[in-house]
Amino acid sequence: MTTALSSTCGTQYQHSHNLSAANTMALACTADSVVTLTNEAQLEAFMATTQESQPLFVLSGGSNVLLPDQLHATVLRPKMLGITVTAQTPDYVDIEVMAGEDWHDLVVYTIDQGWYGLENLALIPGLTGAAPVQNIGAYGVQLEDRLQYVRAYHLPSQTWHHLDAADCQFGYRDSIFKRTPNTWLISRVGLRLHTDATHVLASYGDVQTVAHTYAKQQERTQITPADVMQAIIDIRQQKLPDPKRLPNCGSFFQNPIISQNQFILLQASYPNIVGYPMPESTVKVAAGWLIEQAGLKGGGVEPIITHQKQALVLTNHRPYLATQADVAAAQDYIISCVYEKFAITLVREPVWVNASGKIGHGEYEV
Ligand code: EPU
Repeated sequence: MTTALSSTCGTQYQHSHNLSAANTMALACTADSVVTLTNEAQLEAFMATTQESQPLFVLSGGSNVLLPDQLHATVLRPKMLGITVTAQTPDYVDIEVMAGEDWHDLVVYTIDQGWYGLENLALIPGLTGAAPVQNIGAYGVQLEDRLQYVRAYHLPSQTWHHLDAADCQFGYRDSIFKRTPNTWLISRVGLRLHTDATHVLASYGDVQTVAHTYAKQQERTQITPADVMQAIIDIRQQKLPDPKRLPNCGSFFQNPIISQNQFILLQASYPNIVGYPMPESTVKVAAGWLIEQAGLKGGGVEPIITHQKQALVLTNHRPYLATQADVAAAQDYIISCVYEKFAITLVREPVWVNASGKIGHGEYEV
């Protein structure tokens, strides 16, 4: 509940704010204060008045965070809106997207405009500003494949920066923003999209087959980016729970990367193990498969249960009441069961926020 509202240069400033509905896992969380930013100048004005000792925490769409029940920090919420074309040629379009734009709405908008390249990233929950943080990826495409630059505010030095894709140091579900938490507030993202409707990437899983059903309906033989987008929406809706109906934060664990030797040994005992070859003689193993084989599909520790159709997703069956401690119990249990069976340690993907807004990595910080 909001107990007071004050204003700094038009910035919305709320004290003691309930964030249970602001994280897609629907964990109970009350923050000391929340500042909603609808333009960049508001951030500068806020920073000019804030104490250096005041802990700050940047919260975007809340789809990849695990919040504590009491968050003793000022929560900054980037909600700037706008999509601008910054360059256009017959082959490509450059756009600049403000951080508060809903990611999936952006994907649909670009396809409608005939600007292609984001179709594989349809239906990922969250806002555009958070997309570079975990380098969102799905169905063979990662954000880094489309991103040109990020405009971000460096909170410790109170300065704006233009980071190109190399500066962002992207990796699998990783970036400089994730590795140095509470340091950057992303306000704009620059993307380069293409205009060739015949160029699609549909080799992952069932994407090609499902996309062809859409093409066939319109008596076409070649699939388009719009068909791929529809296919991915279908596939995701079938497998992944809608956070509005069943709270979750997407994939809860990363797909672990193990050595080829370890993979070959596991294959001898588990011929159906799912793995994708990676550089440097490593293999990325499907964590959902490991969890299912450990007997935990639909299991966990109440009220945090793995999803019936995709064991990699943990769901909250007690929205607004379950806490981080409940998540820790389920996480511990799943990690230990998987380790016992496969000698692989799963690593959590969503960020773990402690009571003062600091970010934990592999460990819990409650
Ligand atoms: N699998 C199982 N049992 C399960 C889940 C998966 O056997 O319960 C098997 C599947 O049959 C398949 C393999 O594991 O052979 C991979 O499954 P899926 O295609 O569903 O993809 P994933 O590796 O589990 C990753 C991303 C997803 C993304 C999909 C599609 C990570 C951590 N997750 O999942 O991202 O949508 O690929 O590209 O890389 C997210 O980040 O929130 C997310 C959903």
